[in-house]
Order: sequence, then C-alpha cells, then structure tokens
Amino acid sequence: MTEHRMNDLHAMDRAYVFHPSTHMKAHAHGETPNRIITGGEGCYIWDDEGVKTLDAFAGLYCVNVGYGRQTIADAIHEQAKQLAYYHTYVGHGNEPIIRLSERIVTKAPKGMKRVYYGMSGSDANETNIKLIWYYNNILGRPEKKKIISRWRGYHGSGIMTGSMTGLAAFHNAFDLPKPPVKHTMTPHFYWNAEAGETEEQFSKRCADELEKMIVAEGPETVAAFIGEPVLGTGGIVPPPAGYWAEIQKVLKKYDVLLVADEVVTAFGRTGSYFGSQHYDMEPDLITIAKGVSSGYLPLSGVIVGERVWNVLEQGSEQMGPIGHGWTYSAHPVCAAAANANLDIVDGENLTGNAAETGAYFQKRLQETFADHPIVGEARGVGLMAALEFVADKDKKERFDPNLKVGPQISAACLERGMIARAMPHGDILGFAPPLVVTPAEIDKIVDIAKQAVDAVAEKL
Ligand SMILES: Cc1ncc(COP(=O)(O)O)c(C=O)c1O
Repeated sequence: MTEHRMNDLHAMDRAYVFHPSTHMKAHAHGETPNRIITGGEGCYIWDDEGVKTLDAFAGLYCVNVGYGRQTIADAIHEQAKQLAYYHTYVGHGNEPIIRLSERIVTKAPKGMKRVYYGMSGSDANETNIKLIWYYNNILGRPEKKKIISRWRGYHGSGIMTGSMTGLAAFHNAFDLPKPPVKHTMTPHFYWNAEAGETEEQFSKRCADELEKMIVAEGPETVAAFIGEPVLGTGGIVPPPAGYWAEIQKVLKKYDVLLVADEVVTAFGRTGSYFGSQHYDMEPDLITIAKGVSSGYLPLSGVIVGERVWNVLEQGSEQMGPIGHGWTYSAHPVCAAAANANLDIVDGENLTGNAAETGAYFQKRLQETFADHPIVGEARGVGLMAALEFVADKDKKERFDPNLKVGPQISAACLERGMIARAMPHGDILGFAPPLVVTPAEIDKIVDIAKQAVDAVAEKL
C-alpha cells in the first residue's frame, strides 16, 4: 500500500471508527497513538510502518495457534464456497458444527451434553443467564434468580454480563451492575489474605464469605455462581490452594449452579484442555470463545451439562421450542475455522506446550522478578502470567494510581518491540502469548519485560 493511502487510513480511522476501550476524544483528535496492523506470523504481528512486534498477549489472549495459519484460512475458504450460511433454528444442522460439537463435548469435563453457539464471550454469558433463569422457572422456583460473581471477575460487557464483570470501569456511567447480580470477594491471596493465614485458610474464608452472602440473600433467591477458573482481565490471578473445592461445597449445599467462564482458559491455556479439569471443577455450564477458533473467525459457546440439559428438555415439553436464538448461531464457516484450529491445537499438542513451556515461563518470571524491588508478585499458570507492581514491597503498598505505572511499563515493552498488557485493575502487566510460543521466545519476552520494568523503576 502506498504511503499516501496509509496516511489517509490513519486519518479515516480517527474520523470514522469507534474503537472499544479507547479514549474517545484523544483518539479522535490524534493525541494518542493509532496503529494499523497489517499482518502476522507465529507470535509476531506487524503494522503499516513495517514495525514488527512480539505479541505476548496473543491479541486479546485468543490467537492461541499463532498468526498466519494457512490450514485455517483454507478451511474458511472451502466452507465459504460450499455453504457460507444457513441457520440452525428448528433442527437445521451443518457438518462442521456437528463435528465441532462432538469433539468439544467429548473433551469437556464429564457430564457435558450439548453446545449452544454464539459469536462472543459476552453473548455466550448472556445465554448462560437466560438458561439459568429458564431452568429455575421450569423447576417452579421463580424467586431463584440471583447470580453471584467475584469482584475483579470479567464476564463481558453487555448489560447483564457487564453487571457480572466486577470491574468499576465497566460499570461507571452505564447504570451497572443490575440488581440480580451480587459480587463476592476476590480470591487474591497476595492482597486479601490476613496476616498468618495459609492459602487453604484463605480459600476457606472466601467460601465462608460466599456462604454468608447466600444466606443473607436467601438461598431460595440465589441461582448461580460464575467464575473464571483463573481470574483473567481482573489481573491474571490463579486461585489459591483449595479454592474451587471449598466454593463447590457451598454451592452444592445451597443448590446453586456453577458456571465456569472458560473464555480464556479452555483449549489448553492452563496446560490442561479445560481450566475446569485443571482445578477439579464440576461446572453445570461452561462458557467458551477465544481459543475455540483462535480468533480467526468469531465463535463462542455455552457447553450445557446434564443437570441443566434435562430441565431444558422438560421446558420444551411444557412450553414448546425454546425462545432463544441468534441468526449466526452455529455458523458453518466459523465452525470450519474452529475445526481447523482445534486440529492444530491437538495435532501440535499445544496443551502440552502450554504445560511445558508454560512451566519454563513461570520459572523464568520467578527467577527474574521475585526479588525485584517494584515487583510485589510474579504469578501465573501455564501460558498466562502477570507481574504486580508495588511502591513498597515490605509494606505491600500500591503506587499512586495517577503514576500509571502499569501502563508505563506496558508502553516501555512496546518501545522494545513487545506487547504485554497493562491490565485494567491496579498496576499489573499481563502475559498470555500464543500457545505455540517457544522457550527462545519466552526468553525474549522475559528479557524485554525486565528491561522495561528496570527502565520505568529508575524513573520513579
Ligand atoms: C473470561 C471472559 N469472559 C467473557 C469475555 C467476553 O468475551 P467477548 O469480549 O468476546 O465478548 C472475556 C473477554 O475477554 C473473558 O475474558
């Protein structure tokens, strides 16, 4: 593309495109950088100015098989030629979605029965909420509708999914959260544990808090608990030891459904195929998106477990066909992309790579940052990790938020040729490279992160 046309594109972008999670005014008026991405290969992307960047966040932790995979492009092309679209209402099917559903249900945690498809993690979680409400209506419990999520959980940015998200930036000035949603405490041992508490004791306290909330609200009003196996956008925080076991005891006691939001963790990222398997969770519903198609085309889904499925069948007996559907649910071209993507995930054993190279990544982060004066915690599991920056390590004091230490370090990484994400809560730098990442690329990620952290620390 000529330089002239590219300059026009930058101006047109600022003039016409409404970008998500962007400072509207600064972007429109050219005060913040505007980058046009033109290509990618493996763990790298490049832009219209020819700048190549190591993407240690896999887009938005979705490009798990890496950029530029020919077999996925070919599968999309072939399917679009054969059948670009037909709906899946009233029992219509297509081959790619049938094959995809079989492979997902077969590999999912036990007891999973069917997959309902959407286009985004947010719409899949909206489906979850509707299914949870429908389930309790069919069971004759119209009061049992509240949904509990965690502060710092992320479940999307729709009306109800944005409500379940436990981050103020997604609520402010949007009149959220809506009342059926309640938030319980964040299971982040580093910040929330009391002096002398063990991880197990802390997990038990998280479960006790949940129980208190259920009892205070009235168990007959609490329908479901939703959580990411590993907190993602809220700061990439693996659960403390014993957390899911304790939480599940409480949910069973009060007949509360468990939704595992695996939009980030499904399809290998933790080193297990599903995060639920990694942490012995027995969810009733599982949300999937991102890694199912590695973002080559949008696709999401709700995997429905037996307990809910049986009631959905009863519901149809009582009320006829379910009144829920999207035009693009189970889209054949997206499904073809997902099958080709999962062929790569399985064929190249990317789950195994997330476990092995992930363990190497975690080790390198610990070695490099555990004693760093501004790093309070280096944490992670598999190929997801974070560094948490603090002003005073001994006293565990945060930096003044106005200093924007996390964004400064992310910018310093970018200057050095790498994308690592400043997470929206606190001063946290997040990593989630494609699952094809090699140990040599991990070394590069850690080295650049070290240079960036040192450079910013020096200026503070
Ligand atoms: C755990 C989780 N759930 C839901 C979502 C929402 O997905 P989407 O952005 O596709 O709507 C995300 C997005 O990052 C997520 O991380």
